[in-house]
Amino acid sequence: MDLFAHRGVSAHYPENTKAAFYAASKLPIAGIELDVHVTADGEVVVIHDETIDRTSNGSGYVKDLTLQQLRSYDYGSWFAEEYKGEIIPTLSEVLELFVATHHRINIELKTDIFPYEGIEALVLKEIAKHQITERVIISSFNHESLQTVSQMAPYIETAALFAEILVDFTTYTAKIPANAIHVSLPTAFRRSIGVALEQGATIRVYTVNDLEYAKQLQQLGIQAVFTDDPEAILAGLTK
Ligand code: G3P
Ligand code: CA
Repeated sequence: MDLFAHRGVSAHYPENTKAAFYAASKLPIAGIELDVHVTADGEVVVIHDETIDRTSNGSGYVKDLTLQQLRSYDYGSWFAEEYKGEIIPTLSEVLELFVATHHRINIELKTDIFPYEGIEALVLKEIAKHQITERVIISSFNHESLQTVSQMAPYIETAALFAEILVDFTTYTAKIPANAIHVSLPTAFRRSIGVALEQGATIRVYTVNDLEYAKQLQQLGIQAVFTDDPEAILAGLTK
């Protein structure tokens, strides 16, 4: 079963920072996951929330601040004093860390609250610039965003994120269309995910930080999990 470092190695570094991704880039794991939003001046930045309040010493919506304004805050000290000085990274800066590695890169478009008009084109441009097309997975809870990606770049792998339990994941996902299904941990154990696996679906599960659950998912035939602590899960899983 493959492991993806969720928001980088976010158990040990401030999430979605270059420190968290640099640590992941050195690990023998399948890939990483990151979240993107768009700034007031049209830059794609890597951060989980719509606001910078939780993960910086600043306040405000990413969409209302320019990159320069966002860069005036510290994104490390909320996690631990030793990471003081971490800045909000652009997507381009994070991708740069993985140009020469083997890792897959799951870019989650955080368009479920604010649609960030044009984000799909901006992200596709960065992917092309870094020549990592074959290693990228674009996911979103906003399946309209995935439709847009699929129309603009059908050669890019897409994944539909689900927070809820569907009766028929395979038919729904084919309709978008998306190539893979990303579900929460409780959903992964439901009957409909077992059926989707039997139908040949690619299923990845978020966010798995408990080794016992990781082992159960491996037994089920789940292809990959997102974890904040990939080294700990890797050490406990049998190949
Ligand atoms: O992509 C899987 C997972 O990251 C989705 O949930 O809230 O951690 O972005 P969240
Ligand atoms: Ca995410």
